[in-house]
Amino acid sequence: MAATTHIGRSTRRVDGRAKVTGEAKYAAEFNTPGLTYGYVISSDIAKGKITKIDASDALSLPGVLQVFTHENAPRPAYFDRKFKDDDSPVGEKFKPLYSAEIQFSMQPIGLVVADSFEVARYAASLVKVEYKAETPETNLRKKPKGHKAPTGKTGFTPPKSRGNAAKAYKNAEVQFEAEYYHMPEHHNPMEMFASTVIVEEDGKLKIYDKTQGVANSQTYVTNIFGLSKEEARVINPYMGGGFGSGLRPQYQLYLAVMAARELNRSVRVVLTREQMFSFGHRPATLQTVSLGATKDGLLQAIKHEALGETSRFEEYTEVVVNWAGMLYHCDNVELGYYLRNLDTYTPLDMRAPGSVTGIAAFETAIDELSYKVGIDPLELRLKNYAEKNEFEGKPFSSKELRACYAQGAARFGWAKRPAQPRSMREGTKLIGWGVATGMWDAQQQKSAAKANLSVDGKLVVGSSTADIGTGTYTAMTMIAAETLGLPLDAVTFKLGDTTLPVAPLEGGSWTVASVGSAVKEACEAVAKKVFKMAKDVKDSPLSGASFDEVEFVEGKVQLKGDYSSGVSIVEAMRAGEVNFIEEETTTMPNMLKQMQYARNTHSAVFVEVEVDEDLGQICVRRVVSAIAGGRVISPKTARSQILGGVVWGISMALEEESVLDHHFGRFMNHNLAEYHVAVNADIHDIDVIFVEEHDDIVNPLGAKGLGEIGIVGVAAAIGNAVYHATGKRVRELPITLDKLL
Ligand code: MOS
Repeated sequence: MAATTHIGRSTRRVDGRAKVTGEAKYAAEFNTPGLTYGYVISSDIAKGKITKIDASDALSLPGVLQVFTHENAPRPAYFDRKFKDDDSPVGEKFKPLYSAEIQFSMQPIGLVVADSFEVARYAASLVKVEYKAETPETNLRKKPKGHKAPTGKTGFTPPKSRGNAAKAYKNAEVQFEAEYYHMPEHHNPMEMFASTVIVEEDGKLKIYDKTQGVANSQTYVTNIFGLSKEEARVINPYMGGGFGSGLRPQYQLYLAVMAARELNRSVRVVLTREQMFSFGHRPATLQTVSLGATKDGLLQAIKHEALGETSRFEEYTEVVVNWAGMLYHCDNVELGYYLRNLDTYTPLDMRAPGSVTGIAAFETAIDELSYKVGIDPLELRLKNYAEKNEFEGKPFSSKELRACYAQGAARFGWAKRPAQPRSMREGTKLIGWGVATGMWDAQQQKSAAKANLSVDGKLVVGSSTADIGTGTYTAMTMIAAETLGLPLDAVTFKLGDTTLPVAPLEGGSWTVASVGSAVKEACEAVAKKVFKMAKDVKDSPLSGASFDEVEFVEGKVQLKGDYSSGVSIVEAMRAGEVNFIEEETTTMPNMLKQMQYARNTHSAVFVEVEVDEDLGQICVRRVVSAIAGGRVISPKTARSQILGGVVWGISMALEEESVLDHHFGRFMNHNLAEYHVAVNADIHDIDVIFVEEHDDIVNPLGAKGLGEIGIVGVAAAIGNAVYHATGKRVRELPITLDKLL
């Protein structure tokens, strides 16, 4: 690979300054004269009907403009037609203020609009609501009467089985079976969901919306309200955390647009932290893993079955069990995935959905097997290493998992691990070491980008993608600067605006692969034009060269490695008599090539925990996460993604749980005081290793995506370390101290 000037070199976030100075504005921070404020009224019950709703006291309050409820809210032209968003599961979409029916606790049942937020909030407390309540069912673990298989949705791969797992399990020398469970979780980004809808003089809407994809919000709004794209521009330049919660348009967007259109006023609707628990969560999942093996640890049979939850109105699915058929070599695999309808809102993709929970259970089971057969858990994994994806029968486009195991183990000092649990102690603290494997997808989606190079050497590149904190601004700036041989500060990358070329949702860890490839292609198209002009410069040293023979370095185009042959970009464009060159491209993945391979990222996670023998407190003292994620474009933001993923894994393993009161069908701990997330005091040493991995199949950049792989495997590695420390196996997440005592 040719030497690079930016790609693979650490740089600060290009948007860092804007973020820390407050210059970066978020959806709830955009203002306009005459802005009004909407406050959402949430249902007290989880199931039933509204029998009476009386807003007269609220309406008589000075400053209140309107109280919308199902009795007076409009039914937009397209509401009854099938409408979907880019992340919607199959089923009936939830329609806010549509009828008296209550389908989940904290369902929005009204919107008060007033000339200040405080008045709207107070007025909302004056609206009297009467219900006829029914008993909700929200307990996944209450013995279901038979499971139902999902009917499927675009993108959902139904698990396939191979061989005869039941027979192989029965005949295996060693058998292991256990049930695992994890609690629901909520994304809890720092930034609240918000939409600020500005009605412009010509009646068009300018919508600042918290979303992981402005194009998705625009499609949703234009479909429902029967508007053209010109009539509803959606903007979201920054995001205070997404983690999947912004993959679907949330109800505040609908309510804000509806109110703005009804009142012909600009409206902002911000949800409260409590209301952030009313849409979309990582679903609880009940899983059973059965492993059959030879005495020396060769896997003979794998069975993995999961029961997930969904709402009554949509069929949310995630890929939970498929990983069990891909992680290791095994001829007999049986996979099952089932759903149960509950009276909650539809679950929602949350960082590495399915994988993070499926692998948490499966990699715990593998650890349990290692003790049964008396083989080191790392050695057991190496013994059963999958050379190809046996689920699809395809080779991997690249898989440097062995290097992850080796480098991670060396950095961690795994070789010194005593086999016996409870064999490391420091005073009252029991010490344990655990390992787990992680796996995620390396996907590329269709994406467009536009590049505009002006004669002063400044490059502006744009795409409607998002930066959910992942570092999109930085990575795209680097790719653009690299392609045209410019310094980083000559490049401006714009995103989060539907007037820019369309990008997919920022999710699935595919943004660098998808938008990055589009940015590269758009910049290359510009480069080709510059090159043509450079050839036509008087006495050009490049006159006989082809595009393949040149490179763009330091503002010049030159024969590869030949500094003396350079023609400056500015000189070339002047000679070509243009003030700017603009190119827009739509980049498609090379499916013919890609489909022949399985494309995944891998990781090996090593963890040291300390458990207080008397109190059960767990401290994750050290984590080494070795990642095989293809080429690393932006090392600093990439490392931050893995650090964040590991922090999330620690949080998931030890703290996060959304606790349902099944009597009321309501999440009880709907605030950050009672919904525990890892804080600084919980986080100690985290070491990230990116192993070298070359891949020219996944996309032209060779980057596989790093937003999600960092969390996968962490919870299992922690649980495995806790077992090694204490000899006690906890099969339910989070591992809180009460489960250890
Ligand atoms: Mo991610 S759950 O695709 O934002």
